[in-house]
Amino acid sequence: MLQKLIAGNWKMNGSLAANQALLTGILAGLAERAPACQVAVAVPAPYLAQVQQLVAGSAIALGAQDVSQHAQGAFTGEVSAGMLGDFGVRYVLVGHSERRQYHGETDAVVAAKAQAALAAGMTPIVCVGETLQEREAGATDAVVQRQLAVVIAAVGADVARLVVAYEPVWAIGTGKTASPEQAQAVHAALRTQLRAANAQCASVPLLYGGSMNAANAQQLLAQPDIDGGLIGGAALKPADFLQIIAAAA
Ligand code: PGA
Repeated sequence: MLQKLIAGNWKMNGSLAANQALLTGILAGLAERAPACQVAVAVPAPYLAQVQQLVAGSAIALGAQDVSQHAQGAFTGEVSAGMLGDFGVRYVLVGHSERRQYHGETDAVVAAKAQAALAAGMTPIVCVGETLQEREAGATDAVVQRQLAVVIAAVGADVARLVVAYEPVWAIGTGKTASPEQAQAVHAALRTQLRAANAQCASVPLLYGGSMNAANAQQLLAQPDIDGGLIGGAALKPADFLQIIAAAA
């Protein structure tokens, strides 16, 4: 069985002092009990250099929260995959629902960002998820499969190099979690879709995200098609993040 992946998404939180305190706490916990899963933190771009130094030589991989679809040029404010590579970034979130919702990212833009990350040798964590309205309309599978299909079509054989995160929008930052059964059902459908695209995709890790915390992680991670978690709020507290990592053993 493949090792699970627990990735923290810090979102727009942190400061030099807070990041240092958070990572010191997490690293101390991991020194006491080595993780039996992969661990990553996706940090705000200005802190990549700081966090690269703090996690050097540890079990924590460095991640970014977004990447430009363009390689370089007149795109004020954007950060390219090559720039992320300069800081040892291994994972890049693409298509997080907050990017889709507040920054107008379309499925096509998300697919182009995944391609940019892959071209630079990084692993895109492609986020998909339905709104509450879409779930209540019975459109969950249709929405997440449409979002993933555009990425699959764009990246071709590289689809086997993706990580996919299912994050129901109604569960993000709300304290409402998909039940293990609800999450498993969507993950199983995504697995089928990936396998149909390419036989090697059976091993693409499928993460669950949306109010995963120390209390519910074990049950969610016990589902057969949940290969890890993308953690927002609980990734900002060392004890909680460590408990989720322990639950992924
Ligand atoms: P949450 O965020 O754990 O705070 O719900 C998850 C995410 O948005 O990736």
